[in-house]
Amino acid sequence: MIFPLFSMDKETLLSSLEKVKYPGFSRDIVSFGLVREASFENGVAAVTLELTSSDSTIPAQLKKETEEALSSIDGVEEVQVSVVVKKGQGSSSNQSSSANEGDGVSNRPLPEVKYIVAIASGKGGVGKSTVTVNLACAFEKLLRENNESFDGVGIMDCDVYGPSVPLLIGASERPEVIGDNLIQPVENFGVKVISMGLLVDEEAPVVWRGPMVMKTIQQFASNVSWGKLDLMLIDLPPGTGDAQLSLAQTLPLNGAVIVTTPQKAAVDVARRGARMFEKVSVPLLGVVENMSFLADEETGTKRYIFGKGGGPATAEALETPFLGEIALDERIRLGGDNGIPVVVSNADGPSAKSIQKIAEKLWATLTAD
Ligand SMILES: Nc1ncnc2c1ncn2[C@@H]1O[C@H](COP(=O)(O)OP(=O)(O)O)[C@@H](O)[C@H]1O
Ligand SMILES: [Mg+2]
Repeated sequence: MIFPLFSMDKETLLSSLEKVKYPGFSRDIVSFGLVREASFENGVAAVTLELTSSDSTIPAQLKKETEEALSSIDGVEEVQVSVVVKKGQGSSSNQSSSANEGDGVSNRPLPEVKYIVAIASGKGGVGKSTVTVNLACAFEKLLRENNESFDGVGIMDCDVYGPSVPLLIGASERPEVIGDNLIQPVENFGVKVISMGLLVDEEAPVVWRGPMVMKTIQQFASNVSWGKLDLMLIDLPPGTGDAQLSLAQTLPLNGAVIVTTPQKAAVDVARRGARMFEKVSVPLLGVVENMSFLADEETGTKRYIFGKGGGPATAEALETPFLGEIALDERIRLGGDNGIPVVVSNADGPSAKSIQKIAEKLWATLTAD
């Protein structure tokens, strides 16, 4: 953001821009980082917004609201608002951008990462981070065994307030600094990881506001030496809205997977979360149902203690594939507590197998077109 202004003007301008909310969200365009340029000189207030959206009504609506907000500032005689709409994301692969390397045109983040997939959920505690970590390990195995030119799998933990990926995957060392503004991701079970949990002390309070989240994600993309990867999974914070939008504006996502639980009540929450992705033109890749049933070790009988059908119902409502169910399994919890994902510690067990199957199905969806 560039503010070539005297500070009083800058504050006036900022505070009026902060009144403009992104349609459908409670957050404003400043904290979302959509303001690319703003100036206020000789009575002319000029603002450039940059956003990603497939909804063609949004740029026009934002332009109108921004113009109104600026017109109400004392001393403003003329208002110039331009809205730059970035190309819709979620193309089948962003690898093509690496062809532009060095020409100074493409500054798309993470050009060496073939596929970037966000793992999301409507609410916390559904096992999203557990699913992310286990899926990453499942993909590491799947792609290493099946791709001749396997490059690797990574996890970017974007839950900056409550990062849990390091614990779940048993990573605790500090990322090595390898150059000016460049750090090395930490690796465990062949999966590269970067997380706020690796960068700040566990005890330190992580008190950041929205704009900082976006800045952090940008740094996770630009200042981490990921190298070539076939797939990067993004663990999002729980909830729907701001983080998802910020992320979609920052990373070239190929799509999002929604993790839900079987309860009927979870369907609506997951649906709301999914709509946020649609607003920023990130395609849905499917729904995973976690904690689906409790299996009797001896008989194999499944008890659907949280009810049945929430996952498939969510998938149907969102018109996206149902990728599969994962049992409520003590070994999954223990795997998380011990930092050895069940896909690794109990690779032949039923839970590992169902996660492995989900990875296969997701890869097929991702690489379909
Ligand atoms: N399928 C499962 N079976 C048993 N425990 C699970 C399962 N999935 C997640 N858990 C446990 O539930 C808790 C919350 O999971 P977590 O992945 O941190 O959720 P979220 O990221 O959605 O907040 C953790 O203790 C985790 O070990
Ligand atoms: Mg989590």
